[in-house]
Amino acid sequence: MTNLAIAASGLRKSYRDKTGEKVVLDGIDLAVPEGTIFSLLGPNGAGKTTTVQILSTLIAPDAGDVQVAGHDLARNPDDVRGAIGVTGQCSAVDKLLTGRENLLLMANLKHLPKAEGKRKADELLERFDLVEAAGKPASTYSGGMQRRLDLAMTLVGDPRLIFLDEPTTGLDPRSRRAMWQIVRELVATGVTIFLTTQYLEEADQLADHIALLDQGRLIAQGTANELKRLIPGGHVTLRFTDEAPLKNALDVLGQGFLDTSDDARLTLQVPNDGSVAALRGLLAQLEAARIEPAELSVHTPDLDDVFLTLTGQRNDQKQETV
Ligand SMILES: Nc1ncnc2c1ncn2[C@@H]1O[C@H](COP(=O)(O)OP(=O)(O)O)[C@@H](O)[C@H]1O
Ligand SMILES: [Mg+2]
Repeated sequence: MTNLAIAASGLRKSYRDKTGEKVVLDGIDLAVPEGTIFSLLGPNGAGKTTTVQILSTLIAPDAGDVQVAGHDLARNPDDVRGAIGVTGQCSAVDKLLTGRENLLLMANLKHLPKAEGKRKADELLERFDLVEAAGKPASTYSGGMQRRLDLAMTLVGDPRLIFLDEPTTGLDPRSRRAMWQIVRELVATGVTIFLTTQYLEEADQLADHIALLDQGRLIAQGTANELKRLIPGGHVTLRFTDEAPLKNALDVLGQGFLDTSDDARLTLQVPNDGSVAALRGLLAQLEAARIEPAELSVHTPDLDDVFLTLTGQRNDQKQETV
C-alpha cells in the first residue's frame, strides 16, 4: 500500500457570526498518496483555504481525524509543522526586503547555520530564476516573481509536503506556466503537493488526483479522466447579439450558464452531449420560442462540464450565474 501524506476523515469546520452558524467544511475525507500532486478544486468561498489552514495546523477543526506527514494533527502539531511547507494565498514575502534577504530571513527562522542559509538562498535564487533580481527589493518584482520568491521561501526548510494555496491566481498565462513547471519539478524530487485552485485547466494539467469542493462538501473525486467520465457529455455554447433573446433562451431551456460579463460574450452554455438528436431537440425548443442564436458551437466534455453538471454553475469568477 502506498503511504499517505495526508489522511483526513470527517473534517468539519463552522464559523459563528451574527447570522448564526456557517458551515464551511461539512465532513470531508481526503487521502493524498506520498509523492503525488493533489488538487482541491473549487470556486471562491468553497472552503479551500480553510482546509489548507486546518491541514497545516493554523486553525483547529471542529471534528475529524487527520494524519499529516505521518503525524496526528491534533496530538503532534509540532511534528506536522516540522514536515510541511505552506505557501499561502496571501504572500509571506516582505516587500521592503530584497529577494535574497527574504530567503536569509527564512533560513534564520528555520535555524539554519549562517553558511548553510546563504548556500540555500543562492541555490533557490538560481532555481527560481531570481539571481538577477536577488538584490532588488521585492516590491519591484512582478507578480510571477513574487510568487516564485514566496515558494522559494517555503522550500528553505526542505519540506516533504507542500501546501500551495491558489499559487497562480492572478498570474498571466506565461507566469502560470512557469509556476506549473516548478510544481512538476518539485514533485519529481519526491515531495507531495497539495494544491488548491479555481482553475480547472490547472488541476487538469498538474494533478494526479482532483477533489471538487463546493460549499464545504466534496462533490466528486478522482483523476481528471475519471471526473470527465462522470458526465455524459459536453455542452453547447449559444451566442447572441442581444441580451433579451439570451435571457429568453435561458427561460425556454430551463438550464444553462449565462455569460454577460462582456458585451462581446453574450453566450449561454447548455449541457448537451452534442449528438444529432440532442442538438435537434435543443434547436426545436429554440425555434418553437422563435429564438435564433447568432452562433452555436459544440464542446466535448472537459472539467468545466463536470462543474457545470454537478453544481449547475460554472467555476469561473468572472462570470455571473443566474
Ligand atoms: N475566520 C472566519 N470567520 C468567518 N467565516 C470565515 C472565516 N474564514 C473563512 N470564512 C468563510 O468560510 C468560507 C470558505 O472560505 P475559504 O476557506 O477562504 O474559501 P476559499 O479559499 O475556497 O475561497 C467563506 O464563506 C468564508 O467567508
Ligand atoms: Mg482561498
